[in-house]
Amino acid sequence: MNTLSLKGQVAVVTGASSGLGVRFAHILADAGASVALMARRTDRLDAVVAAIVAKGGVAKAFALDVSDAHAIGPAMDAAQAALGPISILINNAGVGADGRALDISIEDYDAGFAVNTRGVFFAAREAARRMIDSGLAAQGLCRIVNIASIAGSNSLPGLPVYCATKAAVISLTKSLAKEWVRKLIAVNAICPGFIETEINADWFKTDGGQAQIKSFPRRRLMLDSDLDGVLMTLVGPGAHGMTGSIITIDDGQTL
Ligand SMILES: NC(=O)c1ccc[n+]([C@@H]2O[C@H](COP(=O)([O-])OP(=O)(O)OC[C@H]3O[C@@H](n4cnc5c(N)ncnc54)[C@H](OP(=O)(O)O)[C@@H]3O)[C@@H](O)[C@H]2O)c1
Repeated sequence: MNTLSLKGQVAVVTGASSGLGVRFAHILADAGASVALMARRTDRLDAVVAAIVAKGGVAKAFALDVSDAHAIGPAMDAAQAALGPISILINNAGVGADGRALDISIEDYDAGFAVNTRGVFFAAREAARRMIDSGLAAQGLCRIVNIASIAGSNSLPGLPVYCATKAAVISLTKSLAKEWVRKLIAVNAICPGFIETEINADWFKTDGGQAQIKSFPRRRLMLDSDLDGVLMTLVGPGAHGMTGSIITIDDGQTL
């Protein structure tokens, strides 16, 4: 049961068309935030918006490819025009960038960094600029949550580039938190363990994927709802003194 009220706040969730982003959009809307959902597949976004609105929530969809850094600011302007000044950004859009070091193409390498790292940096910057300009940052209300991964501090097999993109997100989280600490914008990162979504569903159907699940201490994948508590803590007033924190939630997978 979620008792935190985000009524009157506007949250942007990138990568809200599937997987974890859908869950984040729902729990923020359930807590009363008006939610701007951003991703490339607008038909998927529209379906999530419809589900939130059917529950009495407020949500709108905005087409955005975060690898087009110039498109991020205009998408946030459109969100602000429709919903009001942004105080929360969930920087969630991501791609697998999978492939062993001997195999991965230059194009897949660049695409991984363009979405997972450059997209996160410029979304954070565009959100922070608007949080400062609106005066909400000075009120201590503003939160940026970057979705990194256990891959950011562990070398996962077959994912050298993905791991590097997420290590960079962890580094950026600390640097942005420090740069904006006096602006009162909190920047933190969540590092989830493996949760079945479109990013990895094919892998977990394979024998190798099944063997990996059996190797986890609890012999299972996590649920997307396992991130709810920390996400809500990070966006709420209880996290007032928390910035630059890197929080692992992995069901013990990396123990
Ligand atoms: N699932 C896990 O086990 C796990 C673990 C640790 C961290 N994570 C991280 O969690 C985040 C969400 O992933 P997920 O597991 O929910 O995977 P997912 O179901 O594949 O969702 C990825 C989301 O990112 C969006 N996206 C991809 N490229 C984009 C682009 N260029 N511009 C805008 N949006 C883009 C996708 O939307 P469109 O395709 O519609 O654009 C989709 O909404 C990622 O950052 C991932 O690295 C996942």
